[in-house]
Amino acid sequence: MQNIDWSKLPFGYFQTDYNVRCYYRNGKWGEIEVSSSPHINIHMAATCLHYGQEAFEGMKAYLGKDGKIRIFRWEENAKRMQRSADGILMARVPEELFHTMVSKAVKLNEHFVPPHGHGAALYIRPLLIGTGIQVGVNPAKEYLFMVFVGPVGPYFKEGFNPVKMQIVRDVDRAAPLGTGHIKVGGNYAGSLFASERAKAEGYASVIFLEAKEKKFIDEAGPANFFAIKGKTYVTPKSPSILPSITNMSLMQIAADMGMTVERRPLAVEELEGFEEAGACGTAAIISPIGTIVDRDSGKTYTFGDPSAAGPVSTRLFKKLQAIQYGDEPDPHGWVSFVE
Ligand code: PLP
Ligand code: COI
Repeated sequence: MQNIDWSKLPFGYFQTDYNVRCYYRNGKWGEIEVSSSPHINIHMAATCLHYGQEAFEGMKAYLGKDGKIRIFRWEENAKRMQRSADGILMARVPEELFHTMVSKAVKLNEHFVPPHGHGAALYIRPLLIGTGIQVGVNPAKEYLFMVFVGPVGPYFKEGFNPVKMQIVRDVDRAAPLGTGHIKVGGNYAGSLFASERAKAEGYASVIFLEAKEKKFIDEAGPANFFAIKGKTYVTPKSPSILPSITNMSLMQIAADMGMTVERRPLAVEELEGFEEAGACGTAAIISPIGTIVDRDSGKTYTFGDPSAAGPVSTRLFKKLQAIQYGDEPDPHGWVSFVE
């Protein structure tokens, strides 16, 4: 294995030793297969290539000081992948199969799990695709579920330092009654144009608005949005947001810290009154947001000291990571071990 500088890992693809696969054919899931090839062989008329029958998940495995490998709330990812499958008519991956394959992929690549103390983790990417052939717009009859893994650092290169984000109105990530609430590839395709433009204009990411009225905040690129005012944690509620497992956990941690948690439509004008803002997700962990610029009006919102993470975001970040890495007790039973 090459020498890895664990504290400088980017968020990206990293070739590891093995991945695991399972095929759904004739109405049932087959045997789990282990592969050392990063390639798959699929028919050119597979529905994933034409009609977007594709869903994925993002999870992480963390190495504790005790040498044990922990996975965070895998049941929630398994359930969300089932909701994604239901939403675009793919075969559901049973929870037990999901867990077995995730655990196997981590175990087979355990020497790639970053050592404790570098802020890095082993990213786990479960992927479900329609492999059956169709030329008419119909769901496939065959599916492939795969899990690959690779060590990563935080999603935004700034790590736990404030980023700048841009509100846009000329692109919607998802429609109110579309697929924004499930984790399917099409949502990400729809976000690419605005994301790349935002990066070229000097921002880490885009803040997408709810598409109907464009008054309320939906998501912060590939992460949920939250904001802090005094002892209140506010996060948007909308039918087109992906329910983030990180956000769900932060809401609980905030409540445990005695904060009030509000999940409700969050209007853009309200941004003015917040002391802190952040993006949260498995890949992003917590990314403090220092500045938000409205691309149409040019209006700029700043949160606390835009060059340093705010105190509440810092407490939330530390607590979440302490649970994930096993440094502090896990009062809600979120962590499970890979044996
Ligand atoms: N929102 C979007 C659009 C995402 O892609 C992700 C990443 O999974 C999240 C939010 C965060 O979700 P989670 O905390 O479950 O990783
Ligand atoms: C995650 O947070 O796991 C994601 O899937 C975000 C992104 C890389 C799509």
